[in-house]
Amino acid sequence: MADPGRGELLLRAVESYPQRMLVIAPDFRILAAGGGAAGSSLEGPCHEALFGRSEPCEGCAVRQVLATAAPAWSPRCGELDEASERICVYAYPLFGDGRLEAVVALEIEPAPRSLLEEQLRRSNAFLRNLITSAVDGVIAADRKGRVIIFNDAAAEIFGYTVEEALASLDVRQIYPDGLEREVMRQLRSPDHGGRGKLRSFPVEVLHRDGTRIPINLNAAIVYEGDREVATIGFFHDLRERLRMQKELEKTQLQLLQAEKMASLGKLAAGVAHQLNNPLGGIILFTKLILEEYPLPEAAREDLNRVLNDAQRCRDTVKELLEFTRQTRHLMRPHDLNQAIARTLFLLKSQSLFHNIEIDTRLDPGLPPVTSDIQQMNHLFMNLILNAAQAMEGNGRLTVSTRHLPEAGRVRIEIADTGPGIPPEVLPHIFEPFFTTKPEGEGTGLGLSLAYGIVQNHGGVLTAVSEPGRGATFVVELPVHPSHGGDSRSE
Ligand SMILES: Nc1ncnc2c1ncn2[C@@H]1O[C@H](COP(=O)(O)OP(=O)(O)OP(=O)(O)O)[C@@H](O)[C@H]1O
Ligand SMILES: [Mg+2]
Repeated sequence: MADPGRGELLLRAVESYPQRMLVIAPDFRILAAGGGAAGSSLEGPCHEALFGRSEPCEGCAVRQVLATAAPAWSPRCGELDEASERICVYAYPLFGDGRLEAVVALEIEPAPRSLLEEQLRRSNAFLRNLITSAVDGVIAADRKGRVIIFNDAAAEIFGYTVEEALASLDVRQIYPDGLEREVMRQLRSPDHGGRGKLRSFPVEVLHRDGTRIPINLNAAIVYEGDREVATIGFFHDLRERLRMQKELEKTQLQLLQAEKMASLGKLAAGVAHQLNNPLGGIILFTKLILEEYPLPEAAREDLNRVLNDAQRCRDTVKELLEFTRQTRHLMRPHDLNQAIARTLFLLKSQSLFHNIEIDTRLDPGLPPVTSDIQQMNHLFMNLILNAAQAMEGNGRLTVSTRHLPEAGRVRIEIADTGPGIPPEVLPHIFEPFFTTKPEGEGTGLGLSLAYGIVQNHGGVLTAVSEPGRGATFVVELPVHPSHGGDSRSE
């Protein structure tokens, strides 16, 4: 067999090229087709013949060659999905008489990815997923502070979208008052978890809107050899934990309060019972002596003093019994506006109230409250007396009632214009026997009694006060269940 000529060899080489090989005119017409396209009838502009497009494709290598007269690469025209991206186009110019005459476009299938490359791609994707889905905010920044990793949790904590952060956030912006310098100082020192590491550093960071967010920060410097190339921080949001901690402390305090009240109540009830009988005897026999014996006036006066004191003791014992719920209660729906009006009527005549302006704002639509009316009288009496005593008989007392239909409750507010309650006193006012009054003037039982009464009625008693601006006591009680819309009351 005769040896094939060079021309024929070249032709065969072109024809057996497995991908398409095209010679394209500057107006994109296909002038010749070889390789995988040999024999097919490709006519007209390449974008139309190959891809059914009316315009040349975006970023196409042929276009680039026409524009620059230099070789160019591009993904295969028109199809940029994952599979076809693997086919590339290499194009180079053909010159004739120093003029760009045509462009040769070769489709090339790159060698399949090696196993190692594939594994690397997968583990990169896995790491990316790991960072994106981490519960803590993850932020990495290069040496200039430009953010290079910013995950979804970070977006939630800091209020920037991932795209915004990657495009324009400087990592220094998330720390208040130059705190990032302190973070970097600690990172570089060996004392906070080793050189280049920072463990469990409590900081406050800045949300985009300027609010400060408590964070537990773990961070590290990324080194290449000995050179610092980046920093990475893991931001654990502490807001929820702090909220729960506060809630727990509050519950603990309430429990302690309830426990204190209960044990004190038992003690008081025991003492009260023991005192009740001898007190009854003292009162009875003093009265008998006063009635049955002709006594000199001075002796009568002394005995009357004994009687008065014994009766005062009995009243105190009664209060103690009330406080410990040893007396029987009669729970009925009652109009609390009426109870307040009655208490005010009784108190108004006392000299302590003569220079006090009383402002009553009673809601005429106040629904009835299931309550023991004696205890309600007691409650209002204590709160109003305290207010008058705090104002030392001079000022304005405001008593208001309001229906809170949404909550199924009524709210009673008793406000004064007295000196208010200092913050260090406020946490103690409901404790039994806590008083700031001079000895002999106050027992410190008034508010603990009031607290117990409101609690027994399924309500809450709170005090608000700013020193120098008076005090307001707020009672909230559940509305009587037969009243419309009260199904939520306790
Ligand atoms: N309206 C108020 N303004 C300022 N301080 C108040 C007010 N009400 C109560 N307090 C403070 O709370 C303390 C406790 O009040 P509480 O009624 O329990 O006892 P008391 O008034 O001192 O004594 P008692 O009521 O047994 O006579 C008071 O001593 C006072 O310091
Ligand atoms: Mg009092």
